[in-house]
Amino acid sequence: MNLEHVFDNNEKFIKDKLSVDHNYFKKLGEGQAPELLYIGCSDSRVSAEELMGLEPGEAFVHRNIANMVISIDVNVMSVVNYAVNHLKVNHVVVCGHYACGGVKAAMLSADLGILNPWLRNIRDVYRIHKNELNAINDEEKKYDRLVELNVKEQCVNLIKTAAVQKAYRDRGLKVHGWVFDVHTGKLIDLKIDFEKYLKDIMEIYHLD
Ligand code: CO
Repeated sequence: MNLEHVFDNNEKFIKDKLSVDHNYFKKLGEGQAPELLYIGCSDSRVSAEELMGLEPGEAFVHRNIANMVISIDVNVMSVVNYAVNHLKVNHVVVCGHYACGGVKAAMLSADLGILNPWLRNIRDVYRIHKNELNAINDEEKKYDRLVELNVKEQCVNLIKTAAVQKAYRDRGLKVHGWVFDVHTGKLIDLKIDFEKYLKDIMEIYHLD
């Protein structure tokens, strides 16, 4: 990869934006008010704004290996708190993707060093849904289903946070679980019943 191209591309990006609106960067410099927090995988094939057709300023983005929401990860928790409490986003999305290397790696019997404690959270998802997953014989289908269930469990982890509970109560914030199909480019809404999970979870994880 010739990194010179990156700067050429940037010049073109500036030209394109200014040709439509000559105040584009003046406005961009004035601040952000995104309505959406997107939590996705770091996978190079799953670019957040591009697959949603969103412009700079429209989505607050956090990406990590296998789109995890882990309660003691200061990074993701800072992003969630800032986006929900200060930027006041109204939607939080966890977006997984089929053929996720992180999800596959989690199920390997291999010592992956620093990745072990991170990926163990995906093994926990497998354990919770063991009966359903063990009944799937096709390996690819099993991984794809684990990707979906992982998205669901990360949505549940979001609902466990005080920030999300309070924002739901105060302004009806919603949590969504999506999957990006890298084979077709399609974005799939898993239609997670946020209100149902919220009710179930509040019984035990009520914070605010
Ligand atoms: Co991935």
